[in-house]
Amino acid sequence: MCGIVGYIGKRDATPLLLEGLQRLEYRGYDSTGLAIHGNGTGRAGGLRTVKAKGRVRDLRDRVPERFTGTTGIAHTRWATHGAPSDENAHPHQDAGGRVAVVHNGIFDNAGELRARLAAEGVEFASETDTEVLAHLIGRSQAPTLEERVREALARIEGTYGVAVLHADFPDRIVVARNGSPVVLGIGEHEMLFASDVAALVSHTRQVVTLGDGEMATLTAGDYRTYTTEGSRTSATPTTVEWEAESYDMAGHDTYMHKEITEQAEAVDRVLRGRIDDRFATVRLGGLNMDAREARGVRRVKILGCGSAYHAGMIGAQLIEELARIPADAEPASEFRYRNPVVDPDTLYVAVSQSGETYDTLAAVQELKRKGARVLGVVNVVGSAIARETDGGVYVHAGPEVCVVSTKCFTNTAVAFALLALHLGRIRDLSVADGRRIISGLRRLPGQIAEILAQEEAIAKLAAEYADAKSMMFVGRVRGYPVAREAALKLKEVSYIHAEAYPASELKHGPLALIEPAVPTVAVLPEDELLEKNRATLEEIRARGGRILAVAHAEQEKADHTVVVPRNEVELDPILMSVPLQLLAYHTALALGRDIDRPRNLAKSVTVE
Ligand code: AGP
Repeated sequence: MCGIVGYIGKRDATPLLLEGLQRLEYRGYDSTGLAIHGNGTGRAGGLRTVKAKGRVRDLRDRVPERFTGTTGIAHTRWATHGAPSDENAHPHQDAGGRVAVVHNGIFDNAGELRARLAAEGVEFASETDTEVLAHLIGRSQAPTLEERVREALARIEGTYGVAVLHADFPDRIVVARNGSPVVLGIGEHEMLFASDVAALVSHTRQVVTLGDGEMATLTAGDYRTYTTEGSRTSATPTTVEWEAESYDMAGHDTYMHKEITEQAEAVDRVLRGRIDDRFATVRLGGLNMDAREARGVRRVKILGCGSAYHAGMIGAQLIEELARIPADAEPASEFRYRNPVVDPDTLYVAVSQSGETYDTLAAVQELKRKGARVLGVVNVVGSAIARETDGGVYVHAGPEVCVVSTKCFTNTAVAFALLALHLGRIRDLSVADGRRIISGLRRLPGQIAEILAQEEAIAKLAAEYADAKSMMFVGRVRGYPVAREAALKLKEVSYIHAEAYPASELKHGPLALIEPAVPTVAVLPEDELLEKNRATLEEIRARGGRILAVAHAEQEKADHTVVVPRNEVELDPILMSVPLQLLAYHTALALGRDIDRPRNLAKSVTVE
């Protein structure tokens, strides 16, 4: 997804903008650019821009000498309208070069506005939707920059996180948000903004997150927030939970490796302070739902995208097993488009690492519009989904920078175990079972560390299977979400095609795909389905398929087995996912992939 960042204060903006762009690289992009108030040295009396297709380093190489100014905006572009190119890179300007705009989101009515402006003689320099906004602002005669931006945005339909510079108003930056995140950073006699706190925390941890329909004016030592209609709003600054250092790679070659290997500590954090040994349950302060309300829940519907959806599948199983409440997970993107029947006795749970995924946010907004109670299981504190929901559980995984989700997936699954335990102990889950699950939860960090210690062996296996033209992942019931998530991991980071199936489904068609060039990863928890799963291994071997099993003991029917420690049967899926993250990572490494920035993908998909 695109990223925006900006600065206004006493320091030279250019190096700060370039550093901010680097902090946003993980969001996925194909071109970059920046604009500064050149304090009179630039074209058209002030604004100077530089743009480049490619990486931030390509932009840095293009920045001319003495490209200085104390106010600037910058952008990483993930192409939606118009191919990646210098011309389509942001910032975009009006005809006179007096306005510069950076934008994350999509203007749905850009085509109609482009046609109307062209008919009035406007010549466009790019194929983008964003340029339309630059021209609308440039053609406004309103007395203030705020009014010019408001006037222009009133004609826009769609999503945006935008920032605007204007040569005639060198003392300010105006930003606005509708559907794409904008966070303000409050510094000492300086102000910053960005799509993500990652670009702010090295300067300040005091932030203000704009809401949809909110704007802000940033000046060197102050900020004001107001609605797109112009009425003032009161924004309360919050302190970012994560230190700047937690965004560093900390000696790892990739963020993915760092985030896989810090899962033991991450799981420790999601458990910290939440275990209630006295009543063999957990304390989840943020639910905003008392025991009586929780007992009234007749069903749980979990919504998310990608890995968040897969973690929700594990969550649904945990809630059914521990709380005996009917529960299921559904892709948020499917749910929101099917005019869902919203049931007042259903508890809806939106799952999102970033808390900004548009499909999930839109599903939450649709549910709220229909009067549903919605919780959020989210990693980023203060994100849109966290703010839109009625309460929830933060997963405290720390910043997850790699596009490929690993520690957040694991922490989200653990957060669901906590929620399931809480709901179960309000109902019929016994003290003994509550204690059993708590004991299992407490064993998770150490057992994850044990699995991570097998990295070298898993890397060797990855090298053996890296030549596969496709891979099948199978599991039954508790193993199936693990198979789904592992297939996604492999696909998105190694580009090897992979698909996951319930193991029982293989014989209904997919078995036709099994051959030596299409190995199978089989997830075999030692539960009541183990013998059925072993029979599936027979089916695959009989057709010449190679098998890599993830199990609690060596599987003689498999060519290779990764043995993981036993936990409680309900929690085993959480552990079984970890070796398959390493398998995907080392397969991608063996194939020389751009691991932290897989092609075509973005970390936070804030468009639909
Ligand atoms: C995970 O590896 C993927 N990068 C992607 O599926 C991700 O889980 C999905 O886009 C949801 O993101 P979110 O958790 O921030 O909502």
